[in-house]
This record gives sequence, structure tokens and C-alpha cells, in this order.
Amino acid sequence: MSGEAMPSTDRSRGRPRGARNLSRRWFLGGAGAVAAGAAVVVAPRVVENVNTPTVSTPGENLVELTLRVNGDQVRLQTDPRATLLDTLRERLALTGTKKGCDRGQCGACTVQVDGRRVLSCLTLAATLDSTEVATIEGLADGDELHPMQQAFIDHDGFQCGFCTPGQIMSAVSLVEEGRAGSDEEIREGMSGNICRCSAYPGIVEAVRSGREVMG
Ligand code: FES
Ligand code: FES
Repeated sequence: MSGEAMPSTDRSRGRPRGARNLSRRWFLGGAGAVAAGAAVVVAPRVVENVNTPTVSTPGENLVELTLRVNGDQVRLQTDPRATLLDTLRERLALTGTKKGCDRGQCGACTVQVDGRRVLSCLTLAATLDSTEVATIEGLADGDELHPMQQAFIDHDGFQCGFCTPGQIMSAVSLVEEGRAGSDEEIREGMSGNICRCSAYPGIVEAVRSGREVMG
């Protein structure tokens, strides 16, 4: 949950002043699967040819691409059939983005590409050359949680936490798009993110609160 140069994750925006500033370490340690996703802090770096593709013979029919992920420049060769979700999880070790349904129905895999939220399970990595990808791991600023992450903690916006990285990425996008003006808008805008634990009341409260802090 760190990194720079995110196009739409504006970390200069207000932080939860005076709020219960639970540490990021606590959040990651105590929030179960949320944490699992949100845990990785990646210093700026260049990653080249991360592992080998899991499908197809290495070197055969591969697509080369360069993109930025949470501020890191990443160069890799990929199978043209590889999804962004599998690339993040299996090749870049960014497991915060969750695989729920793998077919565009649950929203657990939500990330941002060039500032717009996408379902990474439906997005081919090979189409993302020269793009900026933001995942849950890139949201926090060092040890300081993003306001939306803090809001999910403060308002019990999760139970098991599996859906939470996707919920938070969607919530951040919704606020940045200016489409979280009312509870009705929030419910509509978040309707693509399914929560098996039915933590919806807390999620709506969290988005409302995160919106206020993000401005
Ligand atoms: Fe992508 Fe469910 S894993 S929408
Ligand atoms: Fe368990 Fe949403 S908190 S699926």
C-alpha cells in the first residue's frame, strides 16, 4: 500500500485527522484477508521479466510490455491470454487483489488502470503496455493508511475481509469520479462489489466517511 505517481490515487488528499489512526501494521495484521492483500509495500524499482509465463512455452508467442504498477516500472513478457489478475498475483506477487469468481461477477479483483477501475480478471495484461496500474498495495503512504482504508476499519466495513481490497479500490474510484454524493449513489456505484459476509451497512458508512476525508 504505497508507491508514487498514481494517477488517481491522490495521496496528498486529506488524511483521517484526529481519527483513530490505527497503524497500517495493525491493519494488515489484524484484518485477516484484507491485510493479506494490503500488506506489500514495494519500494520504487524496475522489475524485468518476472518469472516465466505459466501458460505456453517460454519465448513462444509472448507479448512484451512495460507498465507501471504502484509506481514501479515493470517490464515483462506475457502470454497474450494472461489476465491482469493472474499477472499481479502470480508474477508480481501482489496478492492483495483477490480472485473471487474469475468471471467478472464479484468485484473482488478491482484495480485501477490509468485512474479508472477495472475488473482485472477480465483485463488482458497484454493490452496494458504503457499504462499505470494501481492496486490495494499502492494505496497507503508508507505507514499511513489511505483515508478509505481507515474508514473501512473505523466503520467495520468488512468481516472476513476477502472482498475488501476490491471494495476499497472501487470506493476510492467512486469518490474520485464524484459519484459518491449520496448513500443511494454509493450503493449503486458499489453494487458490482459483492460481499459474502453482507457487510454492506458498514461499507456504505465507510465510503461516506472516506469521501468526507478525501474531499
Ligand atoms: Fe473478477 Fe470476480 S474475480 S469479478
Ligand atoms: Fe467477507 Fe466481504 S467481508 S466477503
